[in-house]
Amino acid sequence: MIVTEFARNQWYVAAYGHEVGRRQLGRTVLNEPILLWRTEDGRAVAMADRCVHRRFPLSESPSHLVGDRVVCGYHGFTYGPDGVCVAVPAQQRIPRTARLRTYPVVEQDSFVWVWIGDREPGDTLPPRAPWLVSPDYATVCGMEPLNARYGLLVDNLLDLSHETYLHGGYIGTPEVAETPITTEVDEDAGIVYVSRHMDDAACPPFYAESTGIKGRITRWQDIEYHPPCLYLLHSRVAPVGSPPPAADGTDPHAFHVEVVYAITPSTENSTYDFWAVARDFALDDEKVSDFLRDSNRTVVLQDVAALDTLEQVLAREPDRYQELSVNIDTGGLAARRLLAKMAQAGAVRPEAAAR
Ligand code: FES
Ligand SMILES: [Fe+2]
Repeated sequence: MIVTEFARNQWYVAAYGHEVGRRQLGRTVLNEPILLWRTEDGRAVAMADRCVHRRFPLSESPSHLVGDRVVCGYHGFTYGPDGVCVAVPAQQRIPRTARLRTYPVVEQDSFVWVWIGDREPGDTLPPRAPWLVSPDYATVCGMEPLNARYGLLVDNLLDLSHETYLHGGYIGTPEVAETPITTEVDEDAGIVYVSRHMDDAACPPFYAESTGIKGRITRWQDIEYHPPCLYLLHSRVAPVGSPPPAADGTDPHAFHVEVVYAITPSTENSTYDFWAVARDFALDDEKVSDFLRDSNRTVVLQDVAALDTLEQVLAREPDRYQELSVNIDTGGLAARRLLAKMAQAGAVRPEAAAR
């Protein structure tokens, strides 16, 4: 079964930090309409994007910010960053219940993370993607919305054998589909690892053009998936015959690309696909940045087209349709299992809700 249930009481990426400013931004995360904006002193805040009065979205014009207050564009209810309503038209008394739900926010590694759930995050912090803000890396990034359930994107990213077919001519070469994978699951940490090491592979244009490598390459893909939201692909390419990484972890003979995806469920059938590509070479070369941005966006859009099609197929098929899984699906199946466990743990129990 492809996961469609949401895992609540988790951190999710709602936006990039650069998207959140002095203009309200509306995003729907786990079916919850969320308003994001930045206070005058630069703090990102997240609150319900529905006015308590007649539900007008506070992200929609003519709603607007005045200093650190959000004014509803319909009848003028006004809210502070804590969600409390501070003004109601034509009366002094503000109803006690006039407050918007706010969401805990963490800004980290260029992302704005929000906590979606019924309890507070406590000490829980989002997983890290430090390359995206490291001075030793140059990063390009974007976000493509998907008209497909998030489980399809998780499946897609955990099985890179599809690169050979769906992304041939960009990042796929025959060796990706031909090389077996190894899969490990750290149950305690809740992380899925999938690795594919190719000793002697063709260099796809994505790497040939960005690194300048002419011949064949050693190509490593080491995936680390932190369900529900963060996917990291540690990619290492080096000309065949280059020395392997040193015992101390340094690896000066290879090129390193850290591909990061934040997979954020929006509704049951739509997903935010945040993608970023960080590299440790040609740091100041704008041409390389432009090339990697265009190439990766093209690749992401190829996935989007395929997954949007799959969503249509799923919508039309009977519930008990049986998929066939093979070796390449081991990582994806492990991810589905962890996600199902998280969804179950975060589900509101009926007896708790009734209290
Ligand atoms: S709907 Fe917002 S003030 Fe009426
Ligand atoms: Fe893909």
